Amino acid sequence: MTEKTARAAEKAVQRCIDAACGASYGLRERVYVCQKCGGTLEIESHPRALREATGDPATLRKRWAARAASHDPIDQSGVWRYRELLPFDEPIPFVTLFEGNTPLYHGPRSAQYCGLDDLRLKHQGCNPTGSFKDTGMSAAITQAVVLGARTAVCASTGNTSASLAAYAGRAGLQAAVLLPRGQISAGKLAQSLDYGALVCEIDGNFDDCMRLIQELGDDPSIYVANSINPFRIEGQKTVAFELMEQCLWTVPDHVVVPGGNMGNSSALGKGFQELLDLGLIDRLPKLSVVQAEGAAPVARLFATLDIQQAEAGDNLPAAMAPVENPRTLATAIKIGAPVSWKKALRAVLRSGGEILSVSEQEIADAKATIGRDGIGCEPGSATTVAGIKKLAAAGKIRAHENVIAVLTGHLLKDTDYVSHYHRGTLALEAKDGSAPQPIRGSFANTPERVAANKSAILSAMEKRRLS
Ligand code: F0G
Repeated sequence: MTEKTARAAEKAVQRCIDAACGASYGLRERVYVCQKCGGTLEIESHPRALREATGDPATLRKRWAARAASHDPIDQSGVWRYRELLPFDEPIPFVTLFEGNTPLYHGPRSAQYCGLDDLRLKHQGCNPTGSFKDTGMSAAITQAVVLGARTAVCASTGNTSASLAAYAGRAGLQAAVLLPRGQISAGKLAQSLDYGALVCEIDGNFDDCMRLIQELGDDPSIYVANSINPFRIEGQKTVAFELMEQCLWTVPDHVVVPGGNMGNSSALGKGFQELLDLGLIDRLPKLSVVQAEGAAPVARLFATLDIQQAEAGDNLPAAMAPVENPRTLATAIKIGAPVSWKKALRAVLRSGGEILSVSEQEIADAKATIGRDGIGCEPGSATTVAGIKKLAAAGKIRAHENVIAVLTGHLLKDTDYVSHYHRGTLALEAKDGSAPQPIRGSFANTPERVAANKSAILSAMEKRRLS
């Protein structure tokens, strides 16, 4: 063992999350799931090493704040700024596009829509490739470099692939992405092409692509960068750190995220837990996850749980029934068999949050409402505001509470959806030969054909003001 691996081994291990198994692997072992039981892995830092690296909470906060003002690339990155809590040895061969550093907006119209006094939106769509994937990808591709991989691969509904293609490009690695053919928005596909990835359009859905990825992972020259990869989660957990800095370390009552493959919710849960363990916060925010009704296996499972029994967080169900043919226009989260469901469920239960689903109509209307706040997101992201509205109506979020919705992707990721909504032509694809299900443009803003003269334009403005 070299000196470097010895240090890494002292700092943390990759641990199976199944408490009954508990197998561990070194940080340099190229494993993605537990080799003993097939369970999901997570990075577990040794508490002593972590305390030594971080020091006291006040000093750590100050150090992070000072780095945010630095011009050194490792400090400018909203991931590597928090490197004390990342499982890498220095000097870190970090791969960055200056990810993170995303805005936290107030959304007054969205708040009113949900029946809340205030609602803040953490816009992860303002990352370099337009989605929240970049923070995790920065860490995963750095690990691919550490391990000397030649090719980085992923299955994707479009955002992971765009991110992987960009970061692999930065690192000089080959990127190969597996996408369900015909189910990816044009904008996302364009990104992977432009960043130079080998784009494999697979005849099947996302879950089929994910199965293939697990087979490819056996090849030692290939590095799998899906969120099953625990290093992705490490990069992504830094969003919790950045968010708490933006909240001036006042813990929000609720943080709400969309759920697809459930990596994001797992990562946020881990981030908040680490802050709590280190004494940087004094309680956890309630973490809630919102899925689309037609792709909601974890919300379905959650509804059947005896919450009190499961509340400890370790009493998790052994299996989850997948959705065979997931259906939603929010293609980013069109996933029937999420790989990280157990990690996410554990995080939600520990925090006292909820997992719920919302309809296509609720997603579409929430998205248009967020837009009216001047904030553009993609449909999958809008599940959060739709979910918050539902939780508020059920009395599970109260009007005065401090609530944050995490928006995961940028509006320009899927302009077809937006255009159809505002023109009143949005519809969910037919199922079993039945008619497509139309989505009402409740807040439609239809373009108007206006004659090419000033008075016609002024009168169109007047008409709109009165309507
Ligand atoms: N929102 C957006 C915009 C996404 O692209 C995704 C997932 C999610 C939410 C759900 O996050 O999977 O961590 O629960 N997109 C993946 C992809 C699956 O391939 O781009 P999750």
